[in-house]
Amino acid sequence: MASIKTIEELFVHELSDIYSAEKQLTRALPRLSRAASAEELSGAFQSHAEETQGQVERIDQVVEALQIRLKRMKCAAMEGLVEEGRDVIDSIAEGPLRDAALIAGAQKVEHYEIAAYGTLLALAKQLGYDDAIPLLKETLEEEKATDKKLTQLALQGGKNEEAAQATAKA
Ligand SMILES: [Fe+2]
Ligand SMILES: [Fe+2]
Repeated sequence: MASIKTIEELFVHELSDIYSAEKQLTRALPRLSRAASAEELSGAFQSHAEETQGQVERIDQVVEALQIRLKRMKCAAMEGLVEEGRDVIDSIAEGPLRDAALIAGAQKVEHYEIAAYGTLLALAKQLGYDDAIPLLKETLEEEKATDKKLTQLALQGGKNEEAAQATAKA
């Protein structure tokens, strides 16, 4: 079952994997947006859904530029991360605590994507895929910015939660 024997094939495999991951995310993010309580978090999920659509299109551009063919495959890791998001929604009532759990899940997603695009970028450099490099870089930067944004929202949410608890105790 050793179907990957070259760096070129590894690049196609990794790109096919993240393509599946991004597509799964375009379907999951609107649900996360609806499940979030804080308006800013809900908005962040919504705008990342739109950004993710653009990232899918960027992968199409890479495929076109390099004249490669993606493998039909399902990213099992993203399937699991999306499933965990569903579990959060099922097991935590709407509010700051659920928001904190949604952010935790979303940051796991972003870190997965950052690792994937970082690898793809390194492989593209190694292979001299010059047309792919700026496209992969652009998406990598978007994923990093999203991760940072989520960290900020988590800190903000933590403060809101503290305030709510202080009020409840008083
Ligand atoms: Fe993405
Ligand atoms: Fe992302």
